[in-house]
Amino acid sequence: MSFVPYDRPVRAAFIGLGRIYDLNVRAYVGNPDVEVVALVDPDEERRARRQSDWPAARVFASAAELAASGIGVDAAEVLLPVPLHADGVSELLSFGWHVNMQKPMCNDLAEARRLLDAAQASGRVLRVMENYLFYEPLRKLKAVAESGEIGEVSGYHMKMTGSGLGGWEVPISSFLPQLEQMQRGRGILVFDDGWHKLSTALWLFGPVREVRAWIGNTPVGPGVDIDAPSTIVWEHESGVRGVWDITLAMDMYLRSDYYTNDERWEITGTKGYARVNRCTGRGIQQPSLEVYADGVLRAYHALDDDWASSFRDSGRHWLRWLHTGEGPLSWSGEEAVDVLRFALAAYASSAAGGTGVNPAQLG
Ligand SMILES: NC(=O)c1ccc[n+]([C@@H]2O[C@H](COP(=O)([O-])OP(=O)(O)OC[C@H]3O[C@@H](n4cnc5c(N)ncnc54)[C@H](O)[C@@H]3O)[C@@H](O)[C@H]2O)c1
Repeated sequence: MSFVPYDRPVRAAFIGLGRIYDLNVRAYVGNPDVEVVALVDPDEERRARRQSDWPAARVFASAAELAASGIGVDAAEVLLPVPLHADGVSELLSFGWHVNMQKPMCNDLAEARRLLDAAQASGRVLRVMENYLFYEPLRKLKAVAESGEIGEVSGYHMKMTGSGLGGWEVPISSFLPQLEQMQRGRGILVFDDGWHKLSTALWLFGPVREVRAWIGNTPVGPGVDIDAPSTIVWEHESGVRGVWDITLAMDMYLRSDYYTNDERWEITGTKGYARVNRCTGRGIQQPSLEVYADGVLRAYHALDDDWASSFRDSGRHWLRWLHTGEGPLSWSGEEAVDVLRFALAAYASSAAGGTGVNPAQLG
């Protein structure tokens, strides 16, 4: 793909105007790198509501109508329901638009191949945005690990508890695609949210050579199965081992401005440890990053630990990238396939009773 950087504001279209638009839009507001030219959603009420953010943009019920309108579009900000990712993004690439899509990229390797082929055929850039890589406490965690402050890295531990009470309102219409995903064996904690967690492992410690998993299931209502308790362990090619444990606490109230995930990330080194205490929700109300080494505990009190800022910064990175073509995309389409392989290896391992699976060897 030969990419020519833009020397003018990128003409962008939002495709999907649902719940997560509220955070993704933060990268676009007041950003001279971009001009929002169109908004697309079949829901008329949402089109009308979001247009007040962008009075100069045209609104459409479908991307095909926008493509036929003659309006010039350079890049699509794709906020579609997950089951539509493979078909929807292939279509947008075929219109000749660069794509910044949400995770999970898609459900299996055949769909991933289709998306990469569509990007190649159109000569456009496919990005699968990973906002967690832009969350300041996690960026600082990475910097601490790489600085040698806690010695050589000897292990990585992530914890997540999905709680049932608190947080922002998630319309039932936003939840329905998740039910569809559950029926396809792609659960909301391991696959949907897990995409982010597995991404952080690849980002911090590189390729993974073996994954072992025990994926559980808890029915919480008619047709609603939550994929917890689950435990995933893995080993990176570097030898660093990681573990992610996922639990469910349906009756636990968690204060959150967004979703109700109580999360932690901890890197253990030969001399100490560094831990991010929270992210999406306001679980542990201590400084978001703590670093222990040489008998001293240091706490970071002034990091931008609002989860929404990671969307702003991830989106700004993309819109800047379109003007330079330089630096990592975080993630490129190919890198996102590594995340997918990691998740698929966990499913394969769990189905086989927890045996080790090499993600690179999945067919
Ligand atoms: N990065 C994160 O942490 C994070 C968090 C939540 C959601 N997401 C992702 O964001 C995406 C959207 O999630 P959401 O919660 O906003 O979902 P949502 O259901 O609230 O919004 C999706 C919107 O897409 C619209 N839509 C449906 N079909 C369409 C079509 N053919 N063309 C255009 N629009 C169409 C719907 O009407 C709806 O308004 C998903 O991929 C989800 O995984 C990411």
